[in-house]
Amino acid sequence: MSDHHQPDNSSELVSPDAPQFQVLAKNPKRVEYAAAFTFFVSLVFFFGFGAAFWVNADNEILGGTLGAGFLFFGAAMVIWGKYLVPRGPFEEPRPQMETTREEHDELVADFVARGRVAFGRRYFLGAMLAASGAVFSVVALFPLIRSLGPLPKNTFYTTKWRKGSYISTIDGRRLKATDLEVGTLATVFPENDLGGALSQTVLIRVKASGDVVTMAGRESWGPEGFLAYSKVCTHAGCPVGLYEQTTKQLLCPCHQSLFEVEKGAIPIFGPAPRPLPQLPLYVDAEGYLRAQAGYDEPIGPGFWERGGTN
Ligand code: FES
Repeated sequence: MSDHHQPDNSSELVSPDAPQFQVLAKNPKRVEYAAAFTFFVSLVFFFGFGAAFWVNADNEILGGTLGAGFLFFGAAMVIWGKYLVPRGPFEEPRPQMETTREEHDELVADFVARGRVAFGRRYFLGAMLAASGAVFSVVALFPLIRSLGPLPKNTFYTTKWRKGSYISTIDGRRLKATDLEVGTLATVFPENDLGGALSQTVLIRVKASGDVVTMAGRESWGPEGFLAYSKVCTHAGCPVGLYEQTTKQLLCPCHQSLFEVEKGAIPIFGPAPRPLPQLPLYVDAEGYLRAQAGYDEPIGPGFWERGGTN
């Protein structure tokens, strides 16, 4: 018995000089017969499955024949794969891929010669190339810089509210203290910025008379039961316009921040991080509501250099 599987000389694809591969079977011919027999058994069971199906046999017979067919089919494949397929490791000599010294030198010389022709004698072109690249590098920044828009300067810190500004409706009507019922709210603006997004302010009458003191230092800011707060939410800038008069709370509809009106509009719920800035009010001799001054802090959401005063 031989340890080597002899290639089948009847195959036209296999040359007599083909290398001989080792297989695990000591007697490949005998193993081949065993695998063939196992295939045959599986074939019989598959045929039996077909016949059983044809005559509408019981499920047990159908399952049994099909299962046995696959079992023997698999066993034959295992026998074939394990004992009759050549086993590695397979090696093949590889030719030396290294470049010779001469080839290397030739390549370098060729490269240098071409470079001299392309660049070495083109000083003017080289200078123009560098100049174009430099100008383009600078100019490429322009769209970026322009797209930043104008500098905000101090617009983040101030609004159009000034000392003495009349409290006006969006259509320019000056409001008197007698114009609002207790528990009502109006959106108001300074006359020089009617409808202004940054100047919009909520005016609320929380009681019929007397000063409303929201915190120490603001004793005179809420005359005759009136309070005024920036309408720009300190979270993300939505207009805070929903007033619940029984709880005296302002609600921002965007993310449900709740502000305590009688306590300086401190946020008691939601993502707003700061109170709404309060506008100090007074009632003039003719009964008009007016601003004592502008806001004493930036209105709206935070920004990178937030701080300072109006
Ligand atoms: S913008 Fe007011 S809670 Fe988000």
